[in-house]
Amino acid sequence: MKNIVILISGTGSNMAAIVHAAGRERWAERIGARVAAVISNRPGATGLQVARDAGIATAVVDHKSYARREEFDAALQAAIDAHDPALVVLAGFMRILTPEFVAHYAGRIINIHPSLLPAFPGLHTHQRAIEAGCQVAGTTVHLVTAELDHGPILAQAVVPVLAGDTADTLAARVLTQEHLIYPRAVAEWLQH
Ligand code: GRF
Repeated sequence: MKNIVILISGTGSNMAAIVHAAGRERWAERIGARVAAVISNRPGATGLQVARDAGIATAVVDHKSYARREEFDAALQAAIDAHDPALVVLAGFMRILTPEFVAHYAGRIINIHPSLLPAFPGLHTHQRAIEAGCQVAGTTVHLVTAELDHGPILAQAVVPVLAGDTADTLAARVLTQEHLIYPRAVAEWLQH
């Protein structure tokens, strides 16, 4: 069985979309994969309860408990590797990872970013897209490399930017697409 470990920091709606797709599409029987664990760097992440309700193992590695980024990453790596992951999925995981951590999972760690990369890496993507006058926006699933929000693109979805959009209305439109393309990209990666 290929184990998927999902890292979250907050709501975890992308994580939930992957968990639901795995159940609905019977990934365990069809592609020999399952979501083995959900790990958060924030103890209060609401997605943790969603995962527990789905019967998935959860863990918290609180970044505030570690003085140095390297120590946090080492603890996070140990928590992940306890589940023997085939694939590590970043889903709204709001920590910058060390190059050593990324190298450890090279080729088997993916992220979703709420812009059409390589446009708008980093934060506040929707506000920046609106201010730039973009007529379309979207989201990108990519392999994680040492450079933030870079790495080979696995999937993208495009949405229109509408007159009167705020960062919030655009974010909601993009998120709907994220919930479609992320589970699909995970399933495709597992079968590649
Ligand atoms: C998503 O927009 C994702 O692209 C970004 O953070 C948001 C996470 O939302 N990295 P959720 O926690 O999956 O609901």
